Formats: sequence, C-alpha cells, structure tokens
Amino acid sequence: MRLLILGGTVFLGRAIARYALDAGHDVTAAARGVTGAPVDGVRFVRVDRDDPAGLSNLDGDFDAVVDVTRRPSHARHAVATLADRVGHWSFVSTCSVYADDSTPGQRAATAPLVAPAPAEVDDPSGDNMEWYGPCKVTCESVVRDGVGADRAFICRAGLIIGPEDISDRFPYWVRRLAAGGEVLAPGAPDEPVQFVDVADLAAWLVRAGESGLAGTYDGMGPAMPRARFLAEVAAGVGRPDPELTWVDQEFLVEHDVRPWSGERALPLWLPLPEYGGFLSRDVSDTLAAGLAPRALAETARATRQWMTDHPDAVKAGGLAPDAETKVLREWHGRLG
Ligand SMILES: NC(=O)c1ccc[n+]([C@@H]2O[C@H](COP(=O)([O-])OP(=O)(O)OC[C@H]3O[C@@H](n4cnc5c(N)ncnc54)[C@H](OP(=O)(O)O)[C@@H]3O)[C@@H](O)[C@H]2O)c1
Repeated sequence: MRLLILGGTVFLGRAIARYALDAGHDVTAAARGVTGAPVDGVRFVRVDRDDPAGLSNLDGDFDAVVDVTRRPSHARHAVATLADRVGHWSFVSTCSVYADDSTPGQRAATAPLVAPAPAEVDDPSGDNMEWYGPCKVTCESVVRDGVGADRAFICRAGLIIGPEDISDRFPYWVRRLAAGGEVLAPGAPDEPVQFVDVADLAAWLVRAGESGLAGTYDGMGPAMPRARFLAEVAAGVGRPDPELTWVDQEFLVEHDVRPWSGERALPLWLPLPEYGGFLSRDVSDTLAAGLAPRALAETARATRQWMTDHPDAVKAGGLAPDAETKVLREWHGRLG
C-alpha cells in the first residue's frame, strides 16, 4: 500500500515508518525536518503545515494516511487537501481528550470528553499545554467530519514507551532499575499502570490502514499492577527481583516528590483518587480490534539498549539519586 505519514520524523512516526517498510509498503513522510529525520527507505517530502497550502506538493493518491498533529489548523489543511485522495485515515489522538480522570474502567465508546478548543487556540505547546486535550478533540472532529466515519480511525494513545522516547518518563524507570540498589517505589503495589509500546502502537496503526479499521479506540494495553510493572522492567534490564521500598502517597507529597514527569518526579505515578481513572482504562475493544501488546520486559530491554547507544538523548528529569536516598532515609526513620 502507499502510506503517507504526516509527521514521521520522530518517535511514533518513525516507528510507523519502520513497521510499514518492513511490511513491504511504499512510505512517504511529510514534515519540516526540524525536530528529527525520517528513517532510511522513506520518501521524505518537506512541508510546512503552518502554511494552509503547505501540503500541495504531495503528489498522487495514498491508500492510507496517519496524522499525528496536535494543531486543529494542521488537521483542517490536511483534510481539505487530501481527503479525496486517501483511502483510509488514521488520526493519532490522546487519552488527554477525556474529561473524567478519576473513574477507573472507562471505555472509549462511552467516556465523556473535554470541550473542543476555542477557535483562537491552535497551538497547545509551551505555556498552552492545558489545551492539548481540547485541541485533539477538535482535530478528531475535523477528521471524522471531513473524511467520514467509515474511513476514519481515531486512536487515542496512552503513554507511549520504548526506544526513541526522549521524555523523562519511562526512561526514568529503565535507568533507575538498571542501576540496582534500594528503589523508591511510589504508592502501592496494586495501583494500576497503563501504557503502550511504541512499536506495538505503530504496528496496529499500519494494520488499521491495511484492513480499513474505522472507529474510535484507546491506543494502549491493559493496565497492570505497579509491582508487576517494576518487576518486568527490572527483568528486562537484567536486574530481576529489585529491592523495592514502597512509600505511600501522603509521605511522598509531604516530601515534595512530584507525580508523572519533571524535576523531583516519579514517573507513571499520579495522585489518587484524582487520577484513579487515567491509568486504568478498559481496553477490551482495543484488544479485540487488533492491538497486540508485547511483554514489557522486551520494551525495557530495547529502551535500555537505545539509551545506552544515545546517552544524551533523554531529557533530564525525575527524582535525582541523592534526593531518592534522602527520601528513603526519612521514610525508614519516620517511626523512630
Ligand atoms: N508520547 C506520548 O506518550 C503520547 C501519549 C499520548 C498521545 N501521543 C500522541 O502520539 C503522537 C506522537 O507522535 P510522534 O511521536 O511522531 O511525535 P510528534 O511530536 O507528535 O511529531 C510531530 C510531527 O509533526 C511534524 N511537524 C510539526 N510541526 C510541523 C509543521 N509545521 N509542518 C510539518 N510538519 C510538522 C514534526 O516534524 P518536524 O518538526 O520536523 O516538522 C513531527 O514529525 C502524537 O499525536 C501525540 O499527540 C503521545
């Protein structure tokens, strides 16, 4: 098939290209070439989607397109320029479109969404990150209305993990568990953690184009208890049976340990009950529609290899080793 990736120069876009090439497809990636580069074997077309006519130098028809944009204007320009020349349209959205972060077990088919972005908001980056979910809601509607529900696959990705993830989220746990020693484990062993391997998501998106899968789905695997998450990452980085010390949420908050990502953060940990639904979605429809999650240890192994090969690629962040040691010391000393 002729596949067009609108993007295709970083993380997920590159994984989509890699999987599609391996499957024997003819792959075009369209981007500025500013934040990254396409993988070898892809036909690269330099475009600037800030220009409403920016996609006009894309020739011919495509059997399938995958768009990763977060900007409503980009989605509109793409649909206006290409909808008549494309068979199947996948739009990569996000679970940040959901309005209710606290209720566990929600399904894509029925979960309430945040309101679309107001017309004047088009770039949910930097100080405008709060508009990320609303802008994706707008993009989803643009695609569904412009392409038609029978040809549109809306894939609401959860946390994407794996090689080429430059964030300080999953890489934090890869690095930390590989280092060994006593590990600060946040919250409780049975709290849910949910994510998707980048190559699994990429494969599903390409197969959706091949089969013409339409509809709206969450793009993530089933939730697993945090104890299993940490054990499988540890096994994948060659440190089975990690020495975990579980520290409860209240103590972590009191000691300025922060959730999710950034300075002093323990990634993939979110406050409860406020975020009790964020990492515990019901993805039975997703699995029935073909997402096939690999073993987490495999993702951890591949991510560690990539981090070893690219030691400066991952952004700094997460709880620093000396800060972790200090919190653990205070936790052990809290009763005496
Ligand atoms: N990472 C996660 O954990 C996570 C979680 C949920 C959902 N998602 C979603 O998953 C997708 C991830 O996609 P990704 O990894 O490929 O990264 P991305 O950062 O979304 O990639 C954006 C792509 O668009 C291109 N681009 C940006 N501005 C452009 C412009 N003005 N004109 C033309 N091209 C432009 C970029 O290349 P150039 O800059 O070179 O032009 C890049 O290839 C996104 O849809 C994201 O919202 C991510």
